[in-house]
Amino acid sequence: AKPVRVALLGCGTVGTEVVRLLHEQADDLAARVGAPVELAGVAVRRPHKHHDVPAELLTTDAAGLIASDVDVVVEVIGGIEPARTLLLDALRAGRSVVTANKALLAEHGAELFEAADAAGADLYFEAAVAGAIPLLRPLRESLAGDRITRVMGIVNGTTNFILSAMDGTGASYAETLEEATQLGYAEADPTADVDGFDAAAKAAILASLAFHTRVTAADVYREGIAAVSAADVAAARELGRTVKLLAICEREADDEGEAVSVRVHPAMIPRSHPLAGVNGAFNAVFVEADAAGQLMFYGQGAGGAPTASAVLGDLVAVARNRVMGGRGPRESAYADLPVRPMGRT
Ligand code: NDP
Ligand code: HSE
Repeated sequence: AKPVRVALLGCGTVGTEVVRLLHEQADDLAARVGAPVELAGVAVRRPHKHHDVPAELLTTDAAGLIASDVDVVVEVIGGIEPARTLLLDALRAGRSVVTANKALLAEHGAELFEAADAAGADLYFEAAVAGAIPLLRPLRESLAGDRITRVMGIVNGTTNFILSAMDGTGASYAETLEEATQLGYAEADPTADVDGFDAAAKAAILASLAFHTRVTAADVYREGIAAVSAADVAAARELGRTVKLLAICEREADDEGEAVSVRVHPAMIPRSHPLAGVNGAFNAVFVEADAAGQLMFYGQGAGGAPTASAVLGDLVAVARNRVMGGRGPRESAYADLPVRPMGRT
């Protein structure tokens, strides 16, 4: 069969692992997709730094790569621009898109979903929330026939790594943040992690999918961990508790009707709570739905290889759709549940 040609945008912590898996698992991927999956090009800023990628595949012209003969665009650049324009162009040209970019989806998701639906193109983004954990596919597909009422958990690996170290070894905040950056967990600008922007973006995506409405990062009440001191963590310990940064998305009903509320903030939780045992860069998310009851998702929430696993899973799905026909879930036909502005409760 004709190969599925993939344009990779970005080759940093995540992109490098995507290239490795594409190469190492080429035969298995071809079998699962029904056609070979071929890397057509890799767009980066500084080609001279990328010795692991064949030189003839490297380019600084991401737009040109998307416009060339490719079927799927995988975006792991991060940030809003140029990622937004590149992905809109890709979708409008009928390319399938896989992205790990939560910041972009949380701000411009509606625009991207509309472009995907208008073009009949796939837009998959499992890696954008909770790294390797299969969480968005269950929300978008497995639970599509149920009514989700709550999604709650730890969705940022960097802050969980820092809080776990402060609680366990008593290591300093600055030292541990540096380590998280070295390990590839932190965002390019780690204030996105410690000030809760990354978790708020993920919460917005989770709430949008779970409640079939549109929630943007700006709708999310947000507090990060910058104000959590060693003394706070020690005090929590004395009380038999531990500090975790939680994202909480809830469907609420009152006299004014149904609404959605979404918040991110540090919380002291009992050490007996299942989330208290989620340490390091691991994430865990509880989902509650009317018929399914309570579900728990757990696994590595950050890092190159775990994130690349989610990207490759999406790549197989969209490539298979291109080979076999069919499309993934549509997101532009949303109900319009209001988002209730709220403070911390
Ligand atoms: P990195 O900063 O490690 O890599 C970014 C890559 O994008 C680099 O290769 C860089 O090129 C390239 N790049 C930047 N600007 C451009 C541009 N204008 N044109 C072409 N290439 C460009 O980021 P990560 O791999 O850590 O993250 C990528 C995405 O994945 C982000 O959206 C992030 O939020 C998300 N993500 C990351 C996770 C993680 O654990 N790291 C987990 C889940 C999601 P060059 O190398 O030449 O500078
Ligand atoms: N910086 C993010 C985190 C990467 O620490 O969770 C994974 O999305």
